Amino acid sequence: MKNQLYFQLKNNHRQEKAFEAIEKEQHHIGYYALPDQDISPILEYCNTISNSIETIAVIGIGGSSLGAKAIYEFIKPTQKNLKKLYFFESTDPINITTLLSKIDLQKTHFLVISKSGTTVETFAIYKYIYSLQNNPKHYTFITDPNSPLEKYAHEIHASVLHLPPNVGGRFSVLSSVGLVPLALSGIDIQMLLNGAKMIKTSFFKEGYIKDILLKKAVFYAKNHAQYHINCIFAYSETLKFFCEWYVQLWGESLGKKQRHSAFNVGLTPIGLIGPKDQHSFLQLIMDGTRDKSVTFIQIDDFQDSITIPDIDLPHLSSLNVLNHLPFSELINMQCNSVLEALKDQKDIPLDSITIPRVDEYNIGSLIFYYELLTSLVGELIDVNAYDQPGVEAGKIILKKKLENS
Ligand code: PA5
Repeated sequence: MKNQLYFQLKNNHRQEKAFEAIEKEQHHIGYYALPDQDISPILEYCNTISNSIETIAVIGIGGSSLGAKAIYEFIKPTQKNLKKLYFFESTDPINITTLLSKIDLQKTHFLVISKSGTTVETFAIYKYIYSLQNNPKHYTFITDPNSPLEKYAHEIHASVLHLPPNVGGRFSVLSSVGLVPLALSGIDIQMLLNGAKMIKTSFFKEGYIKDILLKKAVFYAKNHAQYHINCIFAYSETLKFFCEWYVQLWGESLGKKQRHSAFNVGLTPIGLIGPKDQHSFLQLIMDGTRDKSVTFIQIDDFQDSITIPDIDLPHLSSLNVLNHLPFSELINMQCNSVLEALKDQKDIPLDSITIPRVDEYNIGSLIFYYELLTSLVGELIDVNAYDQPGVEAGKIILKKKLENS
């Protein structure tokens, strides 16, 4: 993974302070240790799932589904032999019915994932599916130890797996929450962790990523009043769900009341996909208010060589320049052209990340890179990146409404 920054930053003492805080934090925040975990218990558990299972379905929401979905949807187009993995994460009845129409209940294993073990959406969907398939062998429950969900699972004699201690929902993709569904679908979870480990080592052991992440985090924090919107502009449809995961991670971690002041702060994440969003949101970045930073993500090797054919269309000969061009080159040329045009504006903070190829190692690196960046920015803007009081408040009101309905 290459990361090129196109903005200037002085002021190094903040970088060192943020690094020290993160070094300390890794002793009590659980996600930092995930790249180093031994995955054999997860693989052993996955081997116990019957061979007759053809489809895996996650029932969960937010941090309990978005990470696995981001990785699965990134990898799927280049690995044709994966098992189908579906995500029941919405109470939209059309969505539930549509997903159910795609699966055979007898050949599906359901992973009911909820850290708290009480989330309304997850249980509403689970109850519906359980009314159609009530064999506990078709379910695995992933939750925190002693949660109501764990107690329920024991009651029906279903299998339970735990999250490691102190791993928050949106930081849990590299724990059992993400690894079990991904391993069951056939994704190489060790490679995923190896990619994350490369970023972790580079950050904590003075590698190239340390300086980059610290510079980026300090820039975002220092300028958060002006550049309070952070866009990822990813040039691949495969990164669409990675953008959703990023929006949750960034928004839910950084939109907070400051720890040592009365102020509410936040950085607003936007996920864009190129070239589609060149024809919509780009205008706002180029000429709109100077409140946005942009990170371009592109893929070097798409592992797909389809090429634009040599066809001369009447009245459209100006487009013959496209002939013989591989689509993978075209999309990256588009990305670089937009990057250059934005660079010319001189007052839009930019950087670009290049992923060598579509595989587990690279998505694992990207995931851990963004988790570290989120923690650093949280520290620098003085918020607790690991709680979500705003989300909890909505959950409590919904429960009251349900009790009174
Ligand atoms: O990041 C978070 O903590 C949240 O987005 C949760 O993942 C989400 O609310 C689902 O919670 P739970 O896993 O407890 O069902």
